[in-house]
Amino acid sequence: MSKQTKDRRAEKKERIQRDLALYGNGILDSDEMQSAFSQKHHTLSTVGDHTLRVARKSLSICYTLQKLHIRTDIRAVVTGALCHDLGILGRDEKYGSERECSRQHPAHSVQVAEKLVGELPEKTEDIISHHMWPGGNSGIPRSREALIVSAADKLAAVEDFVAGYREKRPGVRHVVREALHRTKHTDAE
Ligand SMILES: [Fe+2]
Ligand SMILES: [Fe+2]
Repeated sequence: MSKQTKDRRAEKKERIQRDLALYGNGILDSDEMQSAFSQKHHTLSTVGDHTLRVARKSLSICYTLQKLHIRTDIRAVVTGALCHDLGILGRDEKYGSERECSRQHPAHSVQVAEKLVGELPEKTEDIISHHMWPGGNSGIPRSREALIVSAADKLAAVEDFVAGYREKRPGVRHVVREALHRTKHTDAE
């Protein structure tokens, strides 16, 4: 990777951290966000890890659009992305099935967001309410910010699984390496 690419990535990472701190600190410091890191999500991830992935991806899309002179409401994107799945917390007690969870958690996430930041601007509510689109029984996103977070949500869901798989299950290469290592040592004994 060239130095220029490395610098650009580091710069983007810093910008994401700055925007998350500027617009999302109250949410990131909340008890709800803390417990999100112990609530399972997408089989091998947690609501907390998934949430941060969605927020980072959404911001990254916003910065790309900005280069094309397409403006986005960064505050709405950060609040919406950070709160979009907080309604899932306590899912085992709240929902009778995956289907019920999928259909009802956006409305519950809106309630959690209102508790954390007060009355929501229309765009923020749009982001949270419609992030499941085109799945569940979600309505169509009305703003570009809601479309961005909905797209980032799908991309992050795939990454959640891949990252969790890498972390929790040894890959084929790892298994082969371990087996070769064992054989080598058994031969030497
Ligand atoms: Fe969701
Ligand atoms: Fe999500």
